[in-house]
Amino acid sequence: MTSTDQQHGSTTAAPASRLTTWHHELFAAVGKWRWLHTLNDSVTEVVQPLYDRHRDNVVVELMHGGRWAGHSLHAALSDLPIGFWSSAVVLDLLDKDVPSANGRLDPAGALSAAGLAAAVATAATGITDWNVSDDEDRRVGLFHGVLNAAGMTLQAASLAARMRGHRRPAQVLSLASMTVTGAAGFVGGHLVQGRAVMVNRVATSTGPTRWVRAVEDTALEDGIPAGVEVDGRKVLLYRTNGDLYAMDNTCSHAGGLLSRGQFDGCTVTCPLHEARFDLRDGRILRGPAHTPQPVLPTRIRNGWIEVRGSLPRSRRATN
Ligand code: FES
Repeated sequence: MTSTDQQHGSTTAAPASRLTTWHHELFAAVGKWRWLHTLNDSVTEVVQPLYDRHRDNVVVELMHGGRWAGHSLHAALSDLPIGFWSSAVVLDLLDKDVPSANGRLDPAGALSAAGLAAAVATAATGITDWNVSDDEDRRVGLFHGVLNAAGMTLQAASLAARMRGHRRPAQVLSLASMTVTGAAGFVGGHLVQGRAVMVNRVATSTGPTRWVRAVEDTALEDGIPAGVEVDGRKVLLYRTNGDLYAMDNTCSHAGGLLSRGQFDGCTVTCPLHEARFDLRDGRILRGPAHTPQPVLPTRIRNGWIEVRGSLPRSRRATN
């Protein structure tokens, strides 16, 4: 379309495309903010050594959600402050936050306080997850945290105003807090759904649906891992003491290549954030992964190591 066409013809394309691309542009801009890079470096310097020192602690793994929950705890906990604080806003809007007698918190104040307590736990789990993120995920994660910290500060100010009986300022601060927290939630949603942070990276790994040659048997030496691609699936092959193992080479946590990790007996430690898996059955021996690593059956035929996915091709009825 020429510029004349744009002037005299239909001009709906540009605004419509802006409506559908603004979030990409927003997050592209966020990734370039210098202050965020600087803040990321400063916070990493303080927080990362602490995490590294305590990463084997079972409480730290639980804060990720761990192998027991099977999901990130942070995402689940984040519903609580949002729920409490949005309920307080509704009470404010309905003018139902009548102060209780005897100096006790009014209902909106009680919701505000409960949300703050939940927000502390949510922030703790978020910081734990943030320590096992990288590059742009990490910077966007930090931006999400900065917004949440601002939301918490506004909510704390609102609660303080309520306790002093300043209802109107408390209501305004509460609404401002919920607005900022909602924006933080949007950024968090982008991290999970747009950038696949803390989601199972091998959720759709199923093939191949038949036995497929992976590597010549003589090419796989004992104790030397091999990363191969079989029908589009990245597979780790490892042989130790004559036993042969195959599992997804893409770490379920954040996509690290396990073939570049550390091997010790029947275990592999991911090179990115040091999740550890048992090669025999894929179970997690150490977080931050919360989904076991899929293993593939193997066999040796005519001098080749063959692997097959977990969903064999359905057989046709023979009669
Ligand atoms: S990618 Fe994070 S532990 Fe493997």
